Amino acid sequence: YDYDLLVVGSANADLVIGVERRPAAGETVLGSDLAVHPGGKGANQAVAAARLGARTALLARVGDDAHGRLLLDSQREAGVDTEGVLVGGAPTGVALITVDPSGDNSIVVSPGANGRLTPEDVRAAGSLFQASRVVSAQLEIPLETVVEVVRGLAPGSRFVLNPSPPRPLPTEVLAACDPLIVNEHEARVIAGTALGDSPEDWATALLALGPRSVVVTLGAEGALVASAEGIARVPSVKVEAVDTTGAGDAFTAALAWRLGRGESPEEAAGYAARVGAAAVTRPGAQESFPTAEEAEAL
Ligand code: RIB
Ligand code: NA
Repeated sequence: YDYDLLVVGSANADLVIGVERRPAAGETVLGSDLAVHPGGKGANQAVAAARLGARTALLARVGDDAHGRLLLDSQREAGVDTEGVLVGGAPTGVALITVDPSGDNSIVVSPGANGRLTPEDVRAAGSLFQASRVVSAQLEIPLETVVEVVRGLAPGSRFVLNPSPPRPLPTEVLAACDPLIVNEHEARVIAGTALGDSPEDWATALLALGPRSVVVTLGAEGALVASAEGIARVPSVKVEAVDTTGAGDAFTAALAWRLGRGESPEEAAGYAARVGAAAVTRPGAQESFPTAEEAEAL
């Protein structure tokens, strides 16, 4: 394989304002100066993996505009192969983000060009799929495009999905996931109402839907890895949160890469937890992702 990881997904310009608290409906609040960061769950995953040392490619679509150039620059600076980044068709995706003093965020995404990444674009990128050990996706691109990703996987390559923002998934997609990576909210949407009280129950319910493995992220509580072999808890790393934006993307990228290298789910998730923890200690998404040395140091 030429690539350890191929990420298929979104690229957004993140327009970020710090707030003391989020406005209620009909209310206006004043916030910080505006910061514009390269983001998007797909682009974030690609930068996170490349910065850790993974040979990484991105299949995405941006607009022919300043935001698109910001995103391409960020990918190239991190060492991501951008041959698969298509340009044009709509403005670059935008995420409107507020970050509160505890580092938590609220995000509204306008998909723009991400919504024009088509199944045909996936088929046209067949050589990237043949060259990639692991392929990962999220849900800021059309679901039919994610279905085509699953169909285009090379024999023996591994598929990892973070279904964010969540929606019910076809069996064909669920069955390909190894793992399906979800937080509690995503688990509830994917599984429907039939979820028990504990994360172990959620994982068991999700496994019954067909994925080969499931990882449930639990924020400060760490994560849980589950497969037919059993369920194990992985502890978190305690850090001072500044901005959690993109930390889940960094976790997913690190996990996908390490699983592809043959690590056990527990080992890979433990490493990914350190990478995600490092990402929350700094502002922004891509700019906050650690190098391999920084991740090891935690
Ligand atoms: O997961 C974080 C990302 O979600 C942000 O970078 C924003 O672009 C949205 O896609
Ligand atoms: Na961050």
